[in-house]
Amino acid sequence: MATIHVSEHPLVKHKLTLLRDQETDPKKFRELIREITILLAYEVTKDLQVESVEVETPMAPCKGFRLQEPIGLIPILRAGLGMVEGIWEMIPSAEVWHIGLFRDEQTLRPVAYYNRLPVHPTVSVCLILDPMLATGGSAVKTVNILKEWGARRIKFMGLIGAPEGVENLNDQHPDVDLYLATVDDHLDENGFIIPGLGDAGDRQFGTG
Ligand code: PRP
Repeated sequence: MATIHVSEHPLVKHKLTLLRDQETDPKKFRELIREITILLAYEVTKDLQVESVEVETPMAPCKGFRLQEPIGLIPILRAGLGMVEGIWEMIPSAEVWHIGLFRDEQTLRPVAYYNRLPVHPTVSVCLILDPMLATGGSAVKTVNILKEWGARRIKFMGLIGAPEGVENLNDQHPDVDLYLATVDDHLDENGFIIPGLGDAGDRQFGTG
């Protein structure tokens, strides 16, 4: 069974409220996504493996650590793009592999339109980035793609989840842990998260 981590951090709650506000403009919206992602990154990366290294300080040799595993950031286009910068600042050595999906408005099923993953996996930990987990269809499909690719450890990192999406991802992929800023009330008949924040892609890119 997957572990579902929902942030209780006051800064996350504060910034998420600003993010939801319909008065928040695209520039501020992008800044907030970046900032909340940095705050969530702390929890998501807590179990990454490190190896021992030695460095010379100006005073003496010192035992230290460095990240051992190659990490992949997998933003789901488009909305996941806004989460890349924040976590990439924390892990500049991470590789970024984009997956393009959009949700068919009638069926609510994800449609894949971009995938340039190399033939063999180059990373051992994959962090899927998408602010919205609605029906969970996009997240499930992305995990399918990554597992077919050969990824072994996969985590999903999002901002707002609907209970339906959390359950779907958990049912289909119980080995994928979830990291969210919050879980909202429900999905409406159009598959939008209520209360949510509207369309995260449109609000970031000014296309709504
Ligand atoms: C939104 C969102 C997720 C997906 C969530 O993307 O960013 O990728 O829908 O829905 P699901 O959990 O029901 O699959 P959208 O299809 O609007 O594409 P966009 O990011 O390009 O705007």
